[in-house]
Amino acid sequence: MSNYKICVLPGDGIGVDVVDAAIKVLDTVGFSNQVEYLYGDIGWEFWKTEGNPLPDRTIDLLKESNCALFGAITSKPKEEADAELDPRFKNKGLIYFSPIVKLRQLFDLYINLRPCKAYLGNPLNYRDDIDLVVFRENTEGLYSGVEWHPVPEAVMKAFIENHPRAKRFGDFALEDLAISTRIFTRKGVKRILKASMEYANEFGYKTVTVVEKPNVIRETSGLMVREARTLIKNYPSLELWETNIDAMAMWLIKNPQDYGVLVTSNMFGDIISDEAAQLVGGLGFARSGNIGDNMAVFEPTHGSAPKYVGQNKVNPIATILAAKMMLDWLNEKEMAQQVEQAVAEVIKEGNARTYDMGGNTSTTGMADAICSRIEKS
Ligand code: IPM
Ligand code: MG
Repeated sequence: MSNYKICVLPGDGIGVDVVDAAIKVLDTVGFSNQVEYLYGDIGWEFWKTEGNPLPDRTIDLLKESNCALFGAITSKPKEEADAELDPRFKNKGLIYFSPIVKLRQLFDLYINLRPCKAYLGNPLNYRDDIDLVVFRENTEGLYSGVEWHPVPEAVMKAFIENHPRAKRFGDFALEDLAISTRIFTRKGVKRILKASMEYANEFGYKTVTVVEKPNVIRETSGLMVREARTLIKNYPSLELWETNIDAMAMWLIKNPQDYGVLVTSNMFGDIISDEAAQLVGGLGFARSGNIGDNMAVFEPTHGSAPKYVGQNKVNPIATILAAKMMLDWLNEKEMAQQVEQAVAEVIKEGNARTYDMGGNTSTTGMADAICSRIEKS
């Protein structure tokens, strides 16, 4: 009997290869024999042929599942997306949107958890003593999708009537104005802060750094920092550090080893998590958990790398570590630990190295190396 239903969404490009590699590892660690895998459609192909990269049947599948493992999808700019759309769907006002951003909002996966840890022996490490974790708010902020171009007259009028600083934009034609909003809710701010502090507490990190810009973005960043100061009082063993996003970009290069948990809003987290990933080997090692109260989607942070399709070349470690995060979330701690240990050992030995690490091990070769470590343990 299966204990879990796991929705598998390989997506397109090399998403398929890396998800296959992760499933192989899940088979080896003994997880797959208690699981029903439900494969779902998502990505560019379904945009082209159905006008929807995230079909409703996939959403239904996700609703039936405990959680999901997601590979990667191709996204292209508006003009190319329109050009590749099946003629049946053209000129119907369909607009391509990112299915992963949609999934995060639809299932209220408000935590984007991005651990960035240097595994010893990785030739790509910036330093070997980095172990930091980014908590990125995942449902609001600049990625809420509330934006206009041209700006509707009623919106502009409301801005001008309600904010003295909006007046200087009043002379522009509406089609010469574009507005993207950065909306924070107290609920959204509090729950990401709380999740970051709980995590720091549980895993023994000493500091939580709130990364915002309250000296300029007074209301949204300000709300985040004020709430952080209140919440941290519940965690006497944690220290709250407050750092502006621009300075954080610098500190991450200067002394990344000093940081523990970082917590920030959606866009800042998107940026800072790529920077942090590069310190510990780049996107081939960067994994994320999109986590809500009852649902989660685990994914490598990288994209679909179309130029490597069909070459069995890319590094599957990010996806294998995403699968490890999934095991943790399902409370399969022992298996999670086995997978991580096997990855750490393979990196340390240095016999299997994918092209990004300066070697020529293939995607399947790396998965096999990790599987044989698990078998030996
Ligand atoms: C990420 C990615 C996504 C994001 C893109 C693919 C929409 O950059 O997961 O960090 O911006 O969140
Ligand atoms: Mg990103």
